[in-house]
Amino acid sequence: MVKVYLVTSNRAKAAEIISALAEAGITAEIAPIKKLEVQSDSLEEIARVAAESLPPSNAPLVVEDAGLFITALNGFPGPYSHYVYKTLGCRGILKLLEGVEERRACFKSAVAVKMPGGEVEVFTGETWGVITREERGDKGFGFDPIFQPEGSAKTFAEMSLEEKNLWSHRGKAVRRLAQWLLEKYSAEAGGR
Ligand code: IMP
Repeated sequence: MVKVYLVTSNRAKAAEIISALAEAGITAEIAPIKKLEVQSDSLEEIARVAAESLPPSNAPLVVEDAGLFITALNGFPGPYSHYVYKTLGCRGILKLLEGVEERRACFKSAVAVKMPGGEVEVFTGETWGVITREERGDKGFGFDPIFQPEGSAKTFAEMSLEEKNLWSHRGKAVRRLAQWLLEKYSAEAGGR
């Protein structure tokens, strides 16, 4: 059984990652470690540097960085989504987009894993959708009430965790990580 540790203080995000990994047969739990958050325009770089700076461990350590890129705002808030959520929130974003017809936005996720030998790999996922005209739903976290993925009638906040994972940037990135981990461990077991 493959087991990994998640380095995050965001419990809602951790629950999504744990559920997506469990579907692939991988167990995960939160490690009480703090990660380094560098400032960068690239989510991949933020996740990679965070993973590289983690202490040595004999199990894989996983970190994730995500952001909402709004087309009409030239990709804002992007890598600054955490700060913008804390300061402006969903309401602030809706206000910025008042009267704006172009509602497209993309959620991006970068998941990095640090392996026991020190190797770091990054996996990404993205989901396009629209910023709704009002908040809908009370599940999930962050900008979930104002993001409706393309092809769905629901916002992320109107979906169960499992349903959100099927659509979400994070679900896609985590499934790529899971596949890589399973291949790696089965190759190692075969080589023994
Ligand atoms: P973090 O820096 O990866 O923790 O995420 C940045 C911010 O983006 C979070 O604080 C949320 O406000 C927002 N965010 C990231 N992923 C999601 C998501 O799946 N749903 C809603 N908001 C998200």
